Amino acid sequence: MVPETERSLLLRQLKNYLLFLKESGHTHAPLNSELSELPVMPVPSGTFRGSSSQPLETQMTLIPTESNDDHEPSGDLTDVREELGDCQRCKLCETRKTIVFGSGNPDADLVFVGEGPGADEDAQGLPFVGRAGRKLTEIIEKGMLLNREKDTYICNIVKCRPPGNRDPEKDEVDACKPFLIKQLKAIRPKVIVALGKPAASTLLGRTVPITKERGTWHEFEGMKLMLTYHPAYLLRAYTKENRQAVYDDMQKVMEILKA
Ligand code: URA
Repeated sequence: MVPETERSLLLRQLKNYLLFLKESGHTHAPLNSELSELPVMPVPSGTFRGSSSQPLETQMTLIPTESNDDHEPSGDLTDVREELGDCQRCKLCETRKTIVFGSGNPDADLVFVGEGPGADEDAQGLPFVGRAGRKLTEIIEKGMLLNREKDTYICNIVKCRPPGNRDPEKDEVDACKPFLIKQLKAIRPKVIVALGKPAASTLLGRTVPITKERGTWHEFEGMKLMLTYHPAYLLRAYTKENRQAVYDDMQKVMEILKA
């Protein structure tokens, strides 16, 4: 019998590996006689903080499938995901269930950057799938008349859930920021939207007073950057004024996307 803690760690590693394969462009994992090697998810050397058991991904082989060239992830973004591996670079790895890398179209013209996964995102391995996520989807689909999956890519400044949904700490943001930068450079969208103060401050490298600066244009590595409120803030302070502010900010984004 495998002990319960070991079993849940193995299941978590399996889930992370399957998400890693999905993000690397694999759509199936058939286990049959024609097995050939799929990529091994890298683990940073010397920094493994989990249990002493072997990472499951080092033992798994699965069949690569025909690529679906409609939404083939850009090579670069796949490289970034592979480099992130089963990340153990900060203490968030000790409490996370899943790495939430990002989702959407890797060739999108529009990227939203949030703060960090919450409980729903940690459970599902996808960003913005909880209450704030539903608000973000509404902003994209009803406010901007775009399709969330086809027209946008969504990620966060930290890829693992801070326990109890606390704010990510400086060392956690510092450990994850190189991957955010590489993600944004790999996608190179026309517009990046920073959702809320932590995302805006991380991208601009200074403390951003979001109430003052929302709705203003900035530059990040040669890409246009718009700052707006986080959808969770909108839900907490659900005033007509705040809703109008985000609507106005997104209309500015649409003007650039249509130009
Ligand atoms: N809030 C965030 O900032 N990111 C998520 O993915 C979910 C909620």
